[in-house]
Amino acid sequence: LATIEFDVGAIPEGQSVTITWRGLPVFVRHRTAAEIEEARAVPMADLKDPETDEQRTKPGYEQWLVMIANCTHLGCVPVGQSGDFDGWFCPCHGSHYDTAGRIRRGPAPTNLVVPPYEFISDTLIQIG
Ligand code: FES
Repeated sequence: LATIEFDVGAIPEGQSVTITWRGLPVFVRHRTAAEIEEARAVPMADLKDPETDEQRTKPGYEQWLVMIANCTHLGCVPVGQSGDFDGWFCPCHGSHYDTAGRIRRGPAPTNLVVPPYEFISDTLIQIG
């Protein structure tokens, strides 16, 4: 389907699920306040692919991170709640992503990709 709807309401804080959109795995993570704070405290100068946490989330829904679940190096699916920056770790060649899904260390050239999506109610997202 070009567009899907998904209800994020059942995802507990601190956990994530993987759903499928256009044949791609997509992470939906319910971030903790500490994870949001950690992402927002990172200086832009520390980022290989500089993007603010605000650019990667929706205003008023900062706790939700929605990203295509393929490492931007060669496409493996990274492991969540893991790595040196508390976000994701890609075991294929050792890329570490932070709690905003931004590449912080390893061979991946860019951040995990945020697909086009919107909140169409407080818990319902439409991807695509
Ligand atoms: Fe993830 Fe190479 S595919 S580090």
